[in-house]
Amino acid sequence: MALRSKLAKHRLKGNKIGLVPTMGALHNGHLALVNASKNQCEITVVSIFVNPAQFNNAEDLEKYPNTIEKDTALLKAAGCNFLFLPSVKEIYPNTHDLSISFGALENNLEGRFRPGHFQGVGLVVSKLFNICQPDYAFFGQKDLQQFFVINKLIDQLSFPIDLKMVETSREENGLAMSSRNLRLSERDKSEASLINQSLSIAKKQLLEGVGIKTVIENAKELFATNDRFTLEYFEIVETDNFSSLTQVTNPKKTAICVAAYIGKVRLIDNLFLNY
Ligand code: PAF
Repeated sequence: MALRSKLAKHRLKGNKIGLVPTMGALHNGHLALVNASKNQCEITVVSIFVNPAQFNNAEDLEKYPNTIEKDTALLKAAGCNFLFLPSVKEIYPNTHDLSISFGALENNLEGRFRPGHFQGVGLVVSKLFNICQPDYAFFGQKDLQQFFVINKLIDQLSFPIDLKMVETSREENGLAMSSRNLRLSERDKSEASLINQSLSIAKKQLLEGVGIKTVIENAKELFATNDRFTLEYFEIVETDNFSSLTQVTNPKKTAICVAAYIGKVRLIDNLFLNY
């Protein structure tokens, strides 16, 4: 593979390689990942591949935004060294039936609502790791459970890769940046600030000692004030397996996670309780 041999030459020169895996439709959140890589590594590789194996909803895959010309220009301006833009055939040349299971981590929250999603993520990220053999890989906090899935992948498959988390980039009104925001109207975008607001309120209440049950009820009530939202989950979880907590025991390993639809667009967000 051409990219692998080009990167091998850089590795021989002692250059560190950073990988930023994406599915395109790039925004400032992705550029923050690119910047983090550039600060750490001599060579930054960005991959853009809309991975069919991780979509459990055909409409979501079909409607996934594609802004490749804009993406290419943004990456050039950001100083990305290599853009890896493989075809589906290149990543999945043959039928594949290998499946990577993440145990309990995969059955909770995102895993529960998107069956097979993390298996698809694990498969494609393993392939990207093998193709690019990076020293560092950069993932955003917005997809928090995905981050811990990748962490497990690296740990249990012994990838010699240093995994870095980059804080969620937000719009001025607090809405987490996401490629799916391109599918939101201006009204949706403005009202979607409720998501981040619900997290901030929950965090404040938890830190004040309000019980988890009450905090979740309050969040549900807040979502019920706007009938354009369908709340999928609002949970306080521990970050080893993303199982729901009934009380906080280790604030450093506790996150507040939410998934909600505004119209047909599914948005997720999270905050650590104590960071
Ligand atoms: O977070 C994403 O954009 C995707 O899940 C990833 C990590 C690029 C794998 O397809």
